[in-house]
Amino acid sequence: MAAGIDDISVYIPKLYLDAGDYALMRGVDATKLRDGLGVNQMAMVDSNQDPACLAANACLRIMQSNKLSPDDIGRLYVSTESSFDESKAMNSYVIGMLEQVYGQGSFEHCGGVETKFACVSGSYALYDNANWIRAGEAEGMNALVVVSDIAKYDKGSSGEMTQGAGAIAMLLNDEPRLLAFDPKVTATSIKDEYDFYRPFGKETPIVHGQYSNLLYLIQVRNALEIYKKKAAASGIISVGEGRSVLDYIDHLNMHLPYAKMGKKALAYLVRHEWRSLPRWKGVIDKVGMPEPVPKDPRGTIESILGDAEFMESDREFQKRFTRTDEFQEVYESKLASSLVASSMVGNLYTASLYLGFRSTIEFEFQKGADLEGQRFGFGSYGSGSSAMIFSGVIQPGYVQLARDMNLEAEIGPRKRLSADQYEMIHGNQLSPEESILSSSKEFVLVDVNTTPESRGQRR
Ligand code: HMG
Repeated sequence: MAAGIDDISVYIPKLYLDAGDYALMRGVDATKLRDGLGVNQMAMVDSNQDPACLAANACLRIMQSNKLSPDDIGRLYVSTESSFDESKAMNSYVIGMLEQVYGQGSFEHCGGVETKFACVSGSYALYDNANWIRAGEAEGMNALVVVSDIAKYDKGSSGEMTQGAGAIAMLLNDEPRLLAFDPKVTATSIKDEYDFYRPFGKETPIVHGQYSNLLYLIQVRNALEIYKKKAAASGIISVGEGRSVLDYIDHLNMHLPYAKMGKKALAYLVRHEWRSLPRWKGVIDKVGMPEPVPKDPRGTIESILGDAEFMESDREFQKRFTRTDEFQEVYESKLASSLVASSMVGNLYTASLYLGFRSTIEFEFQKGADLEGQRFGFGSYGSGSSAMIFSGVIQPGYVQLARDMNLEAEIGPRKRLSADQYEMIHGNQLSPEESILSSSKEFVLVDVNTTPESRGQRR
């Protein structure tokens, strides 16, 4: 049985921090954000928004635009790394809000959990729900997988330039209009790591930035090696002599903690593929790619940062490689469209891969591309750490959905934060009643009660 993404909706908060304003505030060069990281604007939550509200707004959008009732939904999963309760799952908060619209108890028949594994957890949730559909357990109902996060880093830290917030809801069923997942190819890699983590009670993560960049690359490459074997074994992709598996993937969507990371990841995967292909030897030789080195199976962060594998991915080499015409061609055709939305919105943690997917469809469609039948690859990464590579094929029904995609219109008029407003929002100095924007027809926090009995109120 087929399973895939039938529709996708986006909810992005309307406040944003401009890269230039941030640069002035912290005394850094704005071109580092814009060109070095690919960050132009970072979406910020208002004081009356939390990740559950963002998720509920994305769900409401997808339910309303598809005229769905709760009876059409058999599972509702929320994946997040911005969880605010150690026990009560975020999907229960979301259901509570949706029931204010659809009636008390209207989701009682539904199942679901909150999933956690940093930014990769939404991909695990999609996989599990696709398998629920494939197993024939959906009985005509859809699964709703919502990825929602607030990417917030310490003031003055290197991560502060890569913040963002938003939620994406994806409707899954057995007759998907958008993308049918390729069966039996999903590949994962996992290792106990401390590149980025957020211990109990801490609002912002502890981050080893450069190490996290490197681990991301190593893990997605490990997963790609497994994907290659599974794609060959299942007959989905049989790689011809002298070619790479990436030649058979028309568009690649990577996890985007910042837009430029997608380009780094593509370059890393492409150059490792090309290394063994005589056709590309000239390019590899021209840029002087170092010989592969055996991987340290379990080094410390310091030893890995200092080792030859890290050197292999050194900036100078990466820069030379990404500047070649051969790589540029791959980049423009397979990846560039997926980065557009990220540079407007910033990091959405679990949602950023799927914002990239949405971005590819919207901006490729605008360019007049015919995506039907094209294979999309997904490279998901979550710190801590795990990567997942999977793929799917764009379905004929996508045209009907792509016609209405307009990220700017969907976000609505945005408000650029002043430096003072940003500091107040970042420092949690405003109560929900003091929100910067007034909102209507969307879920917001009306009260935050920090006592142990706290339930908060959302409407
Ligand atoms: P940094 O170390 O301050 O920045 O912070 P940098 O020195 O690496 O510079 C970034 C880029 O800007 C470089 O380009 C510089 O050359 C360039 P590259 O060499 O990489 O191509 N640059 C400039 N360009 C033009 N003009 C200039 C200029 N100056 C420098 N003047 C870092 C970067 C990513 C480490 C930081 O933002 C950070 O810590 N971010 C948070 C962690 C993160 O995003 N990690 C990404 C991988 S892990 C991941 O994706 C998981 C995550 O989403 C969480 C989860 O899974 O839960 C984070």
